[in-house]
Amino acid sequence: MTALQHVKLGTYYVVNMPEPDDFGFWRDRARQLVQCDVPPDRVAWVEPGGTASLFSHGDRRMPVPDLSARPVRASKRFMQLARNAAHHTDPERFALLYRLLWRLQSNPRMMEDKADSDVRRVEELDKAVRRDAHKMHAFVRFRLVEEGDEPEAPEHYVAWFEPDHHILRREAGFFVHRFANMRWSILTPRGSLHWDGETLCEGPPAQKSDAPSGDPAEDLWRKYYASIFNPARLKIGAMLKEMPKKYWKNMPEAALIPELVAGAQQREASMVAEGKADFTAKPETLDAVAKAIHACRNCPIGALENHAVMGEGPRDAALMIVGEQPGDQEDIAGRPFVGPAGQVLDAALEETGIDRSAAYVTNAVKHFKYVQRGKRRLHQTPTAKEVDTCRWWQEAERAIVKPKLVLALGASAARGILGKTVSISKARGEPISLDDGSELWVTAHPSYLLRLDGAAKAQQERLFAADLAAVRARLAELGQ
Ligand code: URA
Repeated sequence: MTALQHVKLGTYYVVNMPEPDDFGFWRDRARQLVQCDVPPDRVAWVEPGGTASLFSHGDRRMPVPDLSARPVRASKRFMQLARNAAHHTDPERFALLYRLLWRLQSNPRMMEDKADSDVRRVEELDKAVRRDAHKMHAFVRFRLVEEGDEPEAPEHYVAWFEPDHHILRREAGFFVHRFANMRWSILTPRGSLHWDGETLCEGPPAQKSDAPSGDPAEDLWRKYYASIFNPARLKIGAMLKEMPKKYWKNMPEAALIPELVAGAQQREASMVAEGKADFTAKPETLDAVAKAIHACRNCPIGALENHAVMGEGPRDAALMIVGEQPGDQEDIAGRPFVGPAGQVLDAALEETGIDRSAAYVTNAVKHFKYVQRGKRRLHQTPTAKEVDTCRWWQEAERAIVKPKLVLALGASAARGILGKTVSISKARGEPISLDDGSELWVTAHPSYLLRLDGAAKAQQERLFAADLAAVRARLAELGQ
């Protein structure tokens, strides 16, 4: 049976997946089967190398929907979860996804039902895959294997990594983007990737012994790691959770860990004595963030004559509201959202029934960017680069507060959280899952409403109110 062959056996269908992570293939076949009214218990999804023993007779082909077949419904939330879940190693994942898709046709709001066992399971798969990807970004370590003999030949770096799920292809873009100018290979037991600076190729599974262990570049890496290692930040339990021991063996710097841990207390004491601020490691308290942002000069805005404005609100708030940057009045008061945009926000929150004092309110950029015009300081939108630079602080706040929901007000705030630009009109109305397990909801910035008038203003106010109402409903669902 070829990979692309689907066989209808009596009233059963067998779909042979060509790859264990081919979401597009699953989606096309699932759509076709739903349109032909094939219930989930009549389909077997078979991974490469697997067999559908219960369905081993008959040979009819996939059903073809007729032209009048109804379009298939799939909510944004379902598609988002399904795209990730398809990379899990659970052999039942494609069957689960098909069952959910089938059920969505008669119950379009099913994904909101947190008590539903299928919904819960797909959320678990999604989370496990995102966590695996996060670990891969953090723990892949390249080792130098060849110094090119020809003058033009670039050095070749090779990394060994053992992902839990089928994430290699999914994460290829991250490494290409990050190490675009290097020649590298990532070897894993599930397959390999090779980049020569221009072209990405896939290769077969590898063994750990195929990858080098130890090279001169590692000494450099160890020195670098020792220099950025921050003793004030050392929490052994958290370190083990974030950097499970199973990854240590592939990381050159892990050899240093016992030594660094032992010296940590001493170094912390001397840092405090010298009064040095720390810009290499994420602060672990809101006070530490507040102190650090005042001294931050990592982008040109920090160099203006102004104050950094720290977020405010409970340290364990379930909702974090993120704006763009402080305005003139916020810069003077040293508090977020106290000027005209803050008044619009406060009124809308109150009308929706969201208690601002229970939320943690902050900004994607901590300093006010402006141009002076006579006595007035006129707001200037921060550049994407400035937002990306300041992301460090907003992420530190988020890691400390650990909100369940994040509400981004406007495009700069959304970029500050996602690290990429999204269109508000496309992103609003549905949650976006974040790597830390929280949900991002996106809406317009209140200043945008202030700039409109007439029918456009009324329409945008309605949309803004609807977005806040969705956040309120979600908070209630989460028991907040
Ligand atoms: N606009 C923002 O985005 N944040 C503030 O704090 C004030 C105005």
